[in-house]
Amino acid sequence: MRKNIVAGNWKMNTTLTEGLALAKELKAALQGKDIKCDVVLGTPFTHLASVASELKSTKIGVSAQNCANKESGAYTGEISVAMIASTGAQYVILGHSERRAYYGETNAILKEKVVLALSQGLKPIFCIGEVLEEREAGKHFSVVEAQLSEALFDLSSADFSKLVIAYEPVWAIGTGKTASSDQAQEIHAHIRKTLAAKYGEAVAQNTSILYGGSCNASNAKELFANADVDGGLIGGAALAVDKFLPIIEAF
Ligand code: 13P
Repeated sequence: MRKNIVAGNWKMNTTLTEGLALAKELKAALQGKDIKCDVVLGTPFTHLASVASELKSTKIGVSAQNCANKESGAYTGEISVAMIASTGAQYVILGHSERRAYYGETNAILKEKVVLALSQGLKPIFCIGEVLEEREAGKHFSVVEAQLSEALFDLSSADFSKLVIAYEPVWAIGTGKTASSDQAQEIHAHIRKTLAAKYGEAVAQNTSILYGGSCNASNAKELFANADVDGGLIGGAALAVDKFLPIIEAF
């Protein structure tokens, strides 16, 4: 059965000292609690080793937010999947809309990154989602279908099963706007149907599909109550324990 997951995406926020303090505070807040979902922290590259070491004996996972599309070599400034895995991180967020929009990441590049991540045993949290004009033109279903098929559908069923999908409507990221509970359920169900058509019902039912886009303490419970919403990828609200903890506890 698929897992419920609440993952924080810290984006380009916190110094190492601040990030480590945040991880420690969350660890203390979760200690002894009966948490009903997996928790993952997506930290900047510079924090991965320290945060992973701090969280070693806990159930909290650690994620990078990107990786290189090359294995190793003369790619100044890039971070490989082997480097990420060597920090103790278990996940990597790939295809975030900010990477697609600001750093020119195409489905073709993302496809290479997913294969490399899997080769190092990292679990990709693969982001898909439409921009406002696409939603308004009623193209959101076809946009997510294309993102899935172009970046992921050459994977074997066994490899696809290692992925987590995050649906993030770009118009709801950092805007305070959230997809309504019905909008989220509708498109998550469509994503699962698309996965079932490609990989079969069992793989589709076992894939965690997270919602991201201004998910917070006040809307998480309603969003997560939907049959096809298996948790969240949380931006701003993951940067403070008093905002992140209630989202985790929404399960
Ligand atoms: P916000 O939660 O800040 O809207 O960000 C969502 C997001 O992009 C998570 O990856």
